[in-house]
Amino acid sequence: MRLDKFLCGCGLGTRSQVKKDIAAGLVTVNGKTALRPKQHIDGAVDRICHGGQPCIYERYVYYLLHKPAGVVSATEDKRERTVLELLGDTGRNDLFPVGRLDKDTEGLLLITNDGALAHELTSPSKHTEKEYECHLAYPIDEAQKERLERGVDIGEKELTGPAVVRILDEKRITLTITEGKFHQVKRMLHAVGNEVVYLKRLRMGALVLDKDLPAGSFRRLTKEETESLRK
Ligand code: URA
Repeated sequence: MRLDKFLCGCGLGTRSQVKKDIAAGLVTVNGKTALRPKQHIDGAVDRICHGGQPCIYERYVYYLLHKPAGVVSATEDKRERTVLELLGDTGRNDLFPVGRLDKDTEGLLLITNDGALAHELTSPSKHTEKEYECHLAYPIDEAQKERLERGVDIGEKELTGPAVVRILDEKRITLTITEGKFHQVKRMLHAVGNEVVYLKRLRMGALVLDKDLPAGSFRRLTKEETESLRK
C-alpha cells in the first residue's frame, strides 16, 4: 500500500494533510524519514511512525457528515454530486452512506466501511430510532399529532410503527421513527393532511448531529460513539 494511503487509514487526516506531514519529515518507515508519499509499505511488516508515535491502520472508519441539501446519498452518480465527494480524498475506496437521505434532506449521515454495523443500524428488526426536524406547510393540530403517533397508512402493507412527535411551534415538529421506508417522513405527514417543506435528520440511535457542525462538514466518530452504536 502507498504510504500516504496507509497514513490516511490510520486516521491522520486527508491525503493532502498527510502528504504535508511527510514533506515536513514527520513520518518514518523502519526508523528512516520517509519523503515520498508514493513509497510502498507493508503495514504488517514495516514500522511506520508519525511524530515518533507508531501508526496503527484502522480496518473500519466512521464519519459523521452533516449532509447539505443538493447532494445525493450514493457512492457514485453520473449526474449528481454525492455525499462521498464531500469527504474528499480519504484514501479509502470502500466507504458508503448508512441508509439514505433524500437529495433535499439535510442532517446526520453516517459514512463508514463497516458493513456489519450498517446492517445492524438499518435492519428493520433492530428498530433504530431516527429523529427528524420537520418544517411543515400547515400548522400541526392534535389530531395529526395523534395519528402520526399511532401509525398511519402510507400505502405499505402495514401502518407505520408508533412515532414520537414533539411540537416545537405551530409549523415545526420533531418526529422520531424506527423504520426507514422510502420518503417515509414526507409520506407520513402527507398522509395526515400536511406537507414537509424542510427536513433535517438530528439523530440516528445514539448518534447526535453536532449543533456547531456546518452543513457540508464532517468529522470522525469518537470511540465512545462507535461503541454506543454497536449496543
Ligand atoms: N424521510 C423522508 O421523507 N426523507 C428523508 O430523507 C428521510 C426520511
